Amino acid sequence: MANTNQESNELQRAPSQHVGPDYKTSDEKPEATVSTTIEQKNVVILPQTPQLIALLTMIRDKNTSRADFIFYSNRINRLLVEEALNHLPVHPHTITTPVGRTYAGVKFEGKICGVSIMRAGEAMEQALRECCRSVRIGKILIQRDEETSKPRLFYDKLPEDVKDRWVLLLDPMLATGGSALMAVDVLRSKGVPEERILFLNLIASPEGAANFSKKYPKLRIVTAFVDQGLDEKNYIVPGLGDFGDRFYTL
Ligand code: URA
Repeated sequence: MANTNQESNELQRAPSQHVGPDYKTSDEKPEATVSTTIEQKNVVILPQTPQLIALLTMIRDKNTSRADFIFYSNRINRLLVEEALNHLPVHPHTITTPVGRTYAGVKFEGKICGVSIMRAGEAMEQALRECCRSVRIGKILIQRDEETSKPRLFYDKLPEDVKDRWVLLLDPMLATGGSALMAVDVLRSKGVPEERILFLNLIASPEGAANFSKKYPKLRIVTAFVDQGLDEKNYIVPGLGDFGDRFYTL
């Protein structure tokens, strides 16, 4: 009985789905692990498409080279930025086309900026620049204090008018959320309203998402995948290892 419960818990924490194009029947599509669904309404999980699952499979693989890791994580970063931009408000904007007809469209309202949590968050800047030309990008450096094991703020440099902007906060892995929560504290102290912060990450843990939603329920998290949990060293599992090391130094 205990075993059955344990097994069903594990199944619940690692849902699987037939993945493949719509024209294939379920039998023809392989089963793959997809994102855990979580109750927090402020967490937006990217659609678990065959493309996304294939990209995630590449970057999770310990045998993937650094060049491929950079290439495929950049592709996921693009998907995250594109999704985040859908959460910015727009206002009506009617234009005239070259054939003299009008088209009732929309235009983004307000200004944005990126803020990367160093060093891993900087890996997401390229995707942001590709989508938003000449976007301003601030930096925050937070590191674990050796003595207290708590996150400590070392450095921040943000656009002067950050409080008037929508902020896309960048950090690829949401583990416990300690550093990212401190980064949000920094943004809040500069006057950025919670609801104007979008936190983009590739993989989130359920614990990190819950910690965030508890402290900042109006902030939106945009993630590609919610994983099963954290190990004893607070690495996300199954995860992909140390993102910064795999992107920059391995
Ligand atoms: N940071 C990482 O790079 N990987 C994890 O699994 C957790 C935090």
